Amino acid sequence: MIRDILIHPDPRLKKPCEPIAEVTPDIAALAADMLETMYDAPGVGLAAPQVGVLKRLFVMDCIKEGVPEPMVLINPEIISSSEDMNVYEEGCLSIPDQYAEITRPSEVTVRWMGLDGAPYERQFSGLWATCAQHEIDHLNGRLFIDNLGPLKRQMITRKMEKLKRERARGI
Ligand code: NI
Repeated sequence: MIRDILIHPDPRLKKPCEPIAEVTPDIAALAADMLETMYDAPGVGLAAPQVGVLKRLFVMDCIKEGVPEPMVLINPEIISSSEDMNVYEEGCLSIPDQYAEITRPSEVTVRWMGLDGAPYERQFSGLWATCAQHEIDHLNGRLFIDNLGPLKRQMITRKMEKLKRERARGI
């Protein structure tokens, strides 16, 4: 089932999310819905708060062509980051059509719980590393525009407020 994606500004996108104690059928259904919603958008990552669920879970698939690699990461934690930095032009499904260059560590090692309840650990690089950090930020109530200066951030926020007013009026 495709879920509605919250658009910034929304208080639910600014709150730290709660850890998930165990993988229940509800969590498995949420993950399946989030993958479907992400592919439909389309996007390369989606965090639970973006569909209004304040739990520590995100999905991602950074394969743009070829065999999809859907990933579900529960309670993800960055356990180490490279000193090397990388700049990517980031966007966000909660901030449609707005992009900005963001600098982040180019490699991160992430630990998480899988849908099978087992622990996983993996080093990500390239777009995967950027995406994982962007999504983990969501779980801490942080958006990529929080990395920008206040003027640029306000400009984007005003555009989003206008977009939401237009959508509410059915334009
Ligand atoms: Ni995002």
